[in-house]
Amino acid sequence: MKIVFVFFIVCAAAVRVNQVKNTRQCIAGDGICKPTCAVDEEDTGSCCRHSYRCCQPPKCNDTDQNAQCEARNGKSKPVCGVNEQDTGIGPFCNNNRCCEPTTCIDDADCNCIPVCESETETEDEDGLCCESMKCCKTCNATCGGILGGTSGSFTSPYYPSNYCNNHNCYYNITVEEGLKVMLNFTYFEMEARVDSVRVFDGEVTTDAELAYLTGGPTEGKEINSTSNKMIIQFYSDFSVRKTGFSASYKTFQ
Ligand SMILES: *[C@@H]1O[C@H](CO)[C@@H](O)[C@H](O)[C@H]1NC(C)=O
Ligand SMILES: *[C@@H]1O[C@H](CO)[C@@H](O)[C@H](O)[C@H]1NC(C)=O
Ligand SMILES: *[C@@H]1O[C@H](CO)[C@@H](O)[C@H](O)[C@H]1NC(C)=O
Ligand SMILES: *[C@@H]1O[C@H](CO)[C@@H](O)[C@H](O)[C@H]1NC(C)=O
Ligand SMILES: *[C@@H]1O[C@H](CO)[C@@H](O)[C@H](O)[C@H]1NC(C)=O
Repeated sequence: MKIVFVFFIVCAAAVRVNQVKNTRQCIAGDGICKPTCAVDEEDTGSCCRHSYRCCQPPKCNDTDQNAQCEARNGKSKPVCGVNEQDTGIGPFCNNNRCCEPTTCIDDADCNCIPVCESETETEDEDGLCCESMKCCKTCNATCGGILGGTSGSFTSPYYPSNYCNNHNCYYNITVEEGLKVMLNFTYFEMEARVDSVRVFDGEVTTDAELAYLTGGPTEGKEINSTSNKMIIQFYSDFSVRKTGFSASYKTFQ
């Protein structure tokens, strides 16, 4: 009890002595003593009055830049959006840019509508359409193909965007005589029980069926042939589109 009391007196005296000194110092250095410094002010130490702080006013002043930016209908942001233009005004104290809206221009090869026509169109996520419209492209991708060599890869049309409806196509793999095909569906997702992939052990669809894949998503489904030929049949019906598949293959003995 005694110790606490002595400590209190010493501390109060120290504050009393220091208060005058530090407050004066603070003001001399263009500072202001106040309970807490504002976010843009620099806290340069205590003012010793009820634990006041000595705050330096902000060295940086955005007032003029803000007015210029607002005059151009711009907004201060860390990074300008894709549909915005950097006006070059600034830099602002917080390193923001002044971004103004550009006149948005739809990509010429997009049919920009709110929702793509599910029967005949696929949505291209890389395509630019203004005002949250979707970039819809006619489903006319080439589907299927002839593959060879010691390794390769292929995907369903438009992967990783959704595949199109009403497609039936073949990916025909032929590797060197004496070798076999090791196929890996690194990603697979199709409308369950309706859209599918069939894998055949040979060069015609009457050869043994190695796999019937539907539904998912699954990753890393592996299928081996017993000969140097393999056929992958992709089928989608008239409705519901999913991501489809990505596959790679290599040979083995
Ligand atoms: C910032 O700059 C403007 C114009 O230059 C001035 O009117 C304003 O008083 C300044 N504000 C501060 C806090 O210094
Ligand atoms: C497929 O679509 C592209 C643009 O999306 C177009 O340029 C091309 O002519 C179309 N091909 C066919 C065969 O319709
Ligand atoms: C691929 O195989 C399928 C099924 O046997 C066949 O109908 C199609 O013609 C083949 N494609 C090519 C380009 O040979
Ligand atoms: C098959 O694909 C999966 C998923 O990408 C991968 O983890 C796995 O290692 C692949 N298998 C082979 C034999 O390459
Ligand atoms: C395919 O064959 C390879 C090489 O013999 C073997 O390591 C792998 O386990 C086989 N995969 C399947 C799914 O049978």
